Amino acid sequence: MISIRNLSKIYGSAEGGHKALDDVTLHIDRGDIFGILGSSGAGKSTLVRCMNLLERPTSGTVSINGTDVTNCTGRDLARLRGSVGMIFQNFSLFQQRTVLRNVTFPLELVGTAKAEREQRALELLDIVGLSGLEARYPSQLSGGQQQRVAIARALANRAQIMLCDEATSALDTKTTVSILELLRKINREMGVTIVIITHALTVAESVCNRIAVIDGGSIVEQGTTQDLFAHPQSRALRDLIENSRQVHGRVSLAFEQEGC
Ligand SMILES: Nc1ncnc2c1ncn2[C@@H]1O[C@H](COP(=O)(O)OP(=O)(O)O)[C@@H](O)[C@H]1O
Ligand SMILES: [Mg+2]
Repeated sequence: MISIRNLSKIYGSAEGGHKALDDVTLHIDRGDIFGILGSSGAGKSTLVRCMNLLERPTSGTVSINGTDVTNCTGRDLARLRGSVGMIFQNFSLFQQRTVLRNVTFPLELVGTAKAEREQRALELLDIVGLSGLEARYPSQLSGGQQQRVAIARALANRAQIMLCDEATSALDTKTTVSILELLRKINREMGVTIVIITHALTVAESVCNRIAVIDGGSIVEQGTTQDLFAHPQSRALRDLIENSRQVHGRVSLAFEQEGC
């Protein structure tokens, strides 16, 4: 469904620039919940932004459903962006628009009639569990509710692929679990292929069927979630596992010292 071949991205000039992606090749199948896992600065956001051409790769190709989209422009680019929804850590909602009008926005862009786009938005708000909150503004919602609005908006144009860049990083654990459950439901019931970009091991481990680990702009290992965690090969993944253990260890120790 998404094939990335020999993708490189250099910010700045080719000579003095910064190589954020170095010869990345990976394949994401239809129906996957695919994780891209790596520490801060590894190149995750650059990779995901190259997938929907928010960023132009320096070299290499991105194909979606067999079509090379790397050189898409104009109407083709607009169509591509419609078929690939995206959500972010900071939700990126329009603060001056109601919940309903945030979700109808992508449909306004493609000229869908008002009654039809509102009908579609109400359906989507029902799917993400926000029925009744159509008239609120983003500032009147919790973080988890705001991310649900962003998910509904990302699906408005019947996206087949959803890219989630650190989508749960601003949320507490309980809300993170509920958003991941919603993404799983959208994957299962609507057949949307989901790409989860995260630095959080537990997020990738709990929801993804396949994972690629990125470090210093390169994919250092990839495979099924089960295989990867059973036999981590790369230093980057071993470090992430070790850090995660240490954090858990420190939290448990703090609880013990508090007498919990
Ligand atoms: N617009 C940009 N201009 C120059 N360097 C950038 C830009 N965006 C990201 N970088 C650099 O590219 C590297 C990868 O960044 P990014 O893709 O944001 O990583 P991640 O999302 O994994 O934290 C970092 O070293 C970052 O500083
Ligand atoms: Mg990032």
